[in-house]
Amino acid sequence: MSLKKNILALREKKAIVQKGGGDEAIEKQVAMGKLTARDRILAILDKNSFHEYDLFVVHEERNFGMDKKVLAGDGVITGTGTVYGAPICIYAQDFTVMGGSLGLKHARKITKIMDLALKLQVPCIGINDSGGARIQEGIGALAGYGEIFYRNTMASGVIPQISVILGPCAGGAVYSPALTDFVFVVENISKMFITGPNVIESVLGEKISQEDLGGARVHAEITGNAHFYASSEQECFEQIKQLIRFIPWNNTQKAKSFEPKPPKVKKNIENIIPSDPKQPYDVREVISVLVDDSEFLEIHELFAQNIVVGFGRMNGETVGFVANQPMYLAGVLDCDSSDKAARFIRYCDAFNIPIVTLEDMPGYLPGVDQEHAGVIRHGAKVLYAYSEATVPKITVILRKAYGGGYIAMNSRHLGADFVFSWPSAEIAVMGPEGAANIIFKKEIMEAEDQDAMRQLKVQEYIDKFANPYVAASKGYIDGVIEPSETRSILLHALAISNKKIDDRPTKKHGIPPF
Ligand code: HXC
Repeated sequence: MSLKKNILALREKKAIVQKGGGDEAIEKQVAMGKLTARDRILAILDKNSFHEYDLFVVHEERNFGMDKKVLAGDGVITGTGTVYGAPICIYAQDFTVMGGSLGLKHARKITKIMDLALKLQVPCIGINDSGGARIQEGIGALAGYGEIFYRNTMASGVIPQISVILGPCAGGAVYSPALTDFVFVVENISKMFITGPNVIESVLGEKISQEDLGGARVHAEITGNAHFYASSEQECFEQIKQLIRFIPWNNTQKAKSFEPKPPKVKKNIENIIPSDPKQPYDVREVISVLVDDSEFLEIHELFAQNIVVGFGRMNGETVGFVANQPMYLAGVLDCDSSDKAARFIRYCDAFNIPIVTLEDMPGYLPGVDQEHAGVIRHGAKVLYAYSEATVPKITVILRKAYGGGYIAMNSRHLGADFVFSWPSAEIAVMGPEGAANIIFKKEIMEAEDQDAMRQLKVQEYIDKFANPYVAASKGYIDGVIEPSETRSILLHALAISNKKIDDRPTKKHGIPPF
């Protein structure tokens, strides 16, 4: 055959495979409000940047009628491209091809693109839309999953790994996203669970819908498996692209620098925090007047809302923010918020992103529920993550810094590089009321007017300890600063610690309180 004819034959072959599961299956996919796997990749990547590989890979299963089934691309599309110019490896499971189910060859296409991402030192994005292990393939499918999990673990902390759940992600399939850095979900489309509603009903006799069991909101709000929640696929793709702009391509690099910009929000920072220490406020307002252009990408926005984490820029460079959120549970640390903060701190540390901590919290959440849920084990993760991190670490105490919270939120004692405090800060072993009730118990009990005596003793404790000057006198905080100086002091602290070196003892790895 002449070259020309070969080219025409190639085009024909490609067109057939690129149709995935065919018109009927694509119609079904679209009717569910979902884009096709190929359209998803094209929507995420820069225009005309996608290069596909392994289009002609086929499965080798011969049982259960599989010898007669030709599956386009074996149900997964893989390739490379760019997002805002950043190089990316990407794969997308194609639900129109046998439900995107994962057989050995399907898995090997994925592991091949993951290996490439690691070798090229670039982020890897995986789009999940699959009925799970291809039942006809049995052990081949299980082997495939194991090989993916192994690579997720090897790549962890080396290249950014992003999972997008755009359909079912059932059974063992859930564990690849769970091993990656960021998981994106979309309302009504994402479904993640280990055992589906039918199994639950037959084993436990409980009826539950897929949505209530493992829909997008469940994972964004309750389990914390999802870091980003969107109401449409398009919104989700915009979130992914925004994230890519904030993070470096790999752990040997820094995130891309942008043109420094002043905050867009011009609000007076002193007016954000109420003078009454019992009054809540939204700490995101404080962040908005500190970061360049007031742009802040919040992560885990709907999960454990008593802590806020996310990326902003200062002087054009990416900074990770960890901030207590007084609007929810007074900003306490509990099991979930500890997990959320610790994970984010470790991400920043792995990828050379300095951390700014904004502190205003009365400590760890007390109560039987929390104790039994393991607040000791979960809370310890925050201590571990901050102590372990060697990136620049700067704390600003805005208001309350009590007890374990004072230590945990990147105190000097855990290795903070700079700790600043507003003059309104209260730094003490516990809240004045609790403290007075304990240490002045006898005086209060014996007083004629117990309430008046309690008030007197509370005030005595406040005057003595609930201010930043005792900590400042010991050098535990480096400066008591005016709120209006916060941004300029942070800019300087970040710039001066740009080349920080902080060695750790040699070890294979630590044993964090997982
Ligand atoms: C083979 C599968 C499949 C699978 C779906 N299909 N899942 N084929 N293996 N796991 C096929 C269907 O037979 C169908 O083929 C096509 O994909 C579309 O599926 P439908 O059921 O028609 O789609 P829908 O009604 O949208 O339902 C989607 C679904 C359902 C909820 C995902 O298909 C389902 O429950 N699938 C099984 C999910 C599951 O139990 N997975 C766990 C596997 S075990 P046709 O030819 O009719 O178009 C596992 C353990 C791994 O994952 C452990 C690793 C550590």
